[in-house]
Amino acid sequence: MSAHVRVSTDGGVTTIAIARPGKKNALTGAMYDAMIAALDAAEADDAIGAVIVHGEGGAFTAGNDIADFLATTKDMTNFAGLRFVRRIALFDKPLVAAVDGVAIGVGATMLFHCDLVYATPAAQFRMPFVDLGLVPEAGASLLAPLRVGMARATEMLMLAEPFDAARAEALGVVNAVVPADLLLGVAREKAGRLAAKPRQALAATRRLMRGDRADILARIDAEAREFGARMVSDEARAVFMAFMSRSKK
Ligand code: COA
Repeated sequence: MSAHVRVSTDGGVTTIAIARPGKKNALTGAMYDAMIAALDAAEADDAIGAVIVHGEGGAFTAGNDIADFLATTKDMTNFAGLRFVRRIALFDKPLVAAVDGVAIGVGATMLFHCDLVYATPAAQFRMPFVDLGLVPEAGASLLAPLRVGMARATEMLMLAEPFDAARAEALGVVNAVVPADLLLGVAREKAGRLAAKPRQALAATRRLMRGDRADILARIDAEAREFGARMVSDEARAVFMAFMSRSKK
């Protein structure tokens, strides 16, 4: 468990709050494991019909903790981030994301696994894997082109261009842009409506819409093999070290 992930349930909805605002909600292994445990519990509980993910303190998440990248080896088998993206790809109930502030790296790619995404005008999305000496993860190399088309996905994943909430809405990555003070309320209202629907019909509809999860898992694993090799490369280590020494200034 992690003090930086808060889980609550209300009205058939589980809410997962990423709560490490001093580090822009960057995700550590313990935080991934806490989110996996929350998803496991939500899936196993017949009373739960939907899950909300959001970040506290004006950030969704700045992605994987870069200090953790430095401490990781090439073998991704035990990498909690990989367990998390596999878990979210296999999750069988509706997921609603509420995004305020930065959604970087896995903070952006996890959104492709969410059914509804709401964002504030301050939301900023970025998938800077290539600039970090890495490759996309969470199946984004498959899901981004499917979602936004190859031309836009190339801007996101190869140019690593940031995009704001209005652009995310125009691209269909975000359902709607809502003021910050309404964000969680909107997410709760939508999640509550999903949770109140006939469960089996909703789950079957979701599975049909999402297609073959074996394809997504195979892509996640292919990405992970490349990611592991890139993570210990000289070019990636140099970027990580530069970020860590910058943040100590
Ligand atoms: N891993 C570890 N620490 C992180 C982090 C990450 N991914 N993102 C932010 N932090 C930490 C910073 O080191 C800083 O810590 P410090 O106060 O102890 O020095 C703190 O969070 C605040 O970040 P800071 O950079 O000072 O805030 P900012 O508003 O100027 O910039 C970001 C915010 C998110 C744009 C910037 O921190 C950033 O680019 N982070 C890295 C994002 C990234 O590449 N993630 C990996 C994706 S695969």
